[in-house]
Amino acid sequence: MGPRAELRCDCCLDRSKMGRSSMAGPAMLLLLCTVCRLALGITDGLLPNGNFERGPAPSQLRGTRVLGSSAIPSWRTSGFVQYIPSGKKQGDMLLVVPEGAHAVRLGNEASIRQRLRGAARGARYSLTFSAARTCAQAEQLNVSASGQSGLLAMQTMYSSNGWDSYARAWVADAAGEVEVVIHNPGVTEDPACGPLIDSVAIKTLNPPRRTNRNLVKNGDFEEGPYIIPGTKWGVLIPSRVVDDHSPLPGWMVESLKAVRYVDGGSAAVPRGRRAVELLAGTESAVAQVIRTVPGRRYALSFTVGDAGNACRGQLAVEAHAGRESARVAYESAGSGGARRAVLPFRAASARTLLVFFSSFYSTRSDDMRFSYASNLYNSLKNESVYIFFWKFAV
Ligand SMILES: *[C@@H]1O[C@H](CO)[C@@H](O)[C@H](O)[C@H]1NC(C)=O
Repeated sequence: MGPRAELRCDCCLDRSKMGRSSMAGPAMLLLLCTVCRLALGITDGLLPNGNFERGPAPSQLRGTRVLGSSAIPSWRTSGFVQYIPSGKKQGDMLLVVPEGAHAVRLGNEASIRQRLRGAARGARYSLTFSAARTCAQAEQLNVSASGQSGLLAMQTMYSSNGWDSYARAWVADAAGEVEVVIHNPGVTEDPACGPLIDSVAIKTLNPPRRTNRNLVKNGDFEEGPYIIPGTKWGVLIPSRVVDDHSPLPGWMVESLKAVRYVDGGSAAVPRGRRAVELLAGTESAVAQVIRTVPGRRYALSFTVGDAGNACRGQLAVEAHAGRESARVAYESAGSGGARRAVLPFRAASARTLLVFFSSFYSTRSDDMRFSYASNLYNSLKNESVYIFFWKFAV
């Protein structure tokens, strides 16, 4: 029984106490429990034992290898799964665990899965999990739910300690149970070789709406995937090549590289709690199609800034609205400043594509400047600093 199940029981007990004076027999309690469970649906946050702090019994472990498909409480596993305590050495590499003291490692063809009750048909859910590569080769994870799957590549380490969090969204095709599966499809010589997984969480995404005042949906980025509290690296949102349902409602990631979704607790966000960080030098982009009236004039206003993580230098962002564009330079002192910018445009059609991307060194023609810029990028690429936007309005 996970924490969620306990929560449900508390809820039922409270209600049963309330009803005790009347006729709360076992049947009534059962009925209340059913109603209670349906009403609660899928709760935002870590899945039951989502951080793997409750592990297998010693008899179900051989070294770190997990024996038996239900050895890890709340999870089903298959293939070569290891239960890894923080501080475990692999060769001369120390394995760090981001949350708590344990994580799992998915070796050859290994998977972990969990069934969640209370999915609503047509609702959009986003799964967040943290992962770290442990082997030299490219690693991928196949994440599936409700019959929809996508491969997430973990080729680039953006965060300094090797861990990153990833998000994947899907729409529930039926009400009731949904099974989420994280699977390492890789087969390598060393069967133990594969990514570490920790902190698996879920969030129900509210559908984005445009308002009378803002034609851009989710322009402030406040609606998005679950960010694991205490992690400094936010959540990577993959490009839509691998993700048909965006975990960032209203927005598509229109680039080969992911964009990073950050939280005000660990990054400087000028207003609200959330922002999107475009990883400079990798041409990461976010886009949205808005409804416009042909011939009418609009103003696309937005804010660019730095996340306040000591990245200094010239950053730039390009904003496009249909065929019109603006390049916004931003001098970062690395201390979390921001500036507003406006792109006035005249709509050419009933739908206008808005695109924002980082243009860091692509626009520099001067050799010296270019090498300065690429040095800066090289020295910072593991720190994942850069430009973010917040509060778009048209
Ligand atoms: C990913 O997993 C799904 C469901 O388990 C499966 O149908 C699909 O073929 C897998 N894709 C890859 C590339 O392994």
